[in-house]
Amino acid sequence: MEKSLTVNYQEKPCYDIIFDQSFDGLKEALINLGFENRKIAIVTDSNVDKLYSQEITDLVSGISSKVIKCVIPAGESNKNLSEIEKIYEELIINHFDRHDLIIALGGGVVGDMAGFTASTFLRGIAFIQVPTTLLAQTDSSIGGKTGVDFKGYKNMIGAFYMPKLVYMNLSTLKSLDDRQYISGFAEVMKHGLIKDSDFYMWLIDNLYEICERDIDVLIEMVQKSCDIKRRVVEKDPKEKGDRALLNFGHTLGHAIEKYKNFELMHGECVALGCVAAAFISWKKDMLSMEEYYEIRDMFVPFGLPISVEDIDVDEVIKLTKSDKKADSDKIRFILLKKVGKAVIDTSVTDDEMREALNEILYVENND
Ligand code: GLY
Repeated sequence: MEKSLTVNYQEKPCYDIIFDQSFDGLKEALINLGFENRKIAIVTDSNVDKLYSQEITDLVSGISSKVIKCVIPAGESNKNLSEIEKIYEELIINHFDRHDLIIALGGGVVGDMAGFTASTFLRGIAFIQVPTTLLAQTDSSIGGKTGVDFKGYKNMIGAFYMPKLVYMNLSTLKSLDDRQYISGFAEVMKHGLIKDSDFYMWLIDNLYEICERDIDVLIEMVQKSCDIKRRVVEKDPKEKGDRALLNFGHTLGHAIEKYKNFELMHGECVALGCVAAAFISWKKDMLSMEEYYEIRDMFVPFGLPISVEDIDVDEVIKLTKSDKKADSDKIRFILLKKVGKAVIDTSVTDDEMREALNEILYVENND
């Protein structure tokens, strides 16, 4: 099985997303892109390194003039400029030039960092994404967002920079621990909630297979999810408008993530942020009470949290002000009009956020 989708950028075909069940087609894909006899830097993290680096190195060695590996210590706390500097150093020591290639092998942090390195090294060298987590496969590897956190501000330094290819081996999803897998699923739910009610219903109908990681259902799910993301980023690659809808659940989600010092996973915080944003949508008469509770409760069977302990609500609200989704002084909040239809709203007040955060605490205390 090998299927693909083409992503356009500025109305021209820019890169393919290849969906496969192994890494076997990667070498041919690189040859087709003209990367024979180039140097290749595999950027990965200390977890993924143990699983897949050797296989990728063996696969690409035959076509490359030199393969090096740059391993970042795993975890969001290493998504910073000093780790990027170490990659630059490796590239310089190994005489990489503008014709060479970076492969981002791993999850969202690796993809963002490798992409940022590629966008800035020698003013831009080619990179491809080889995402190995559900979050990276369905969200972060598509659309060219790259970057690092800076002094506690999430993704504050970065660039839009398109990969030459996104190559997914979907069997990697089997190697994820449950928490990581489920966390990635939050972004998949988000895609249904903001853009596609049929897809959202399909997810609910396939709940059992998704939780069991049935490979045929996973393939269909990842393809459908990527197609939603493709449509959004093609229309608005630089987030001047509709791409911001992908930030549903992220304003309060990022703030909780930061407040909790990254102890919760990104997707867990996104699920919490989605519940809070759906609550605000209800309070603003965009959703009915029934719709709000249905949306909230549907995270539960998929194993995602709808409540959080031990947060200082006012501190979390303060943290939303430093999120880069703020537009001048106004926060660009994403709310829901119904399942499958999200809107940008700049009128959400601190009091509305406070009520929503108390609601997700309230659920925890009263269950
Ligand atoms: N993950 C949100 C975006 O790519 O815009």
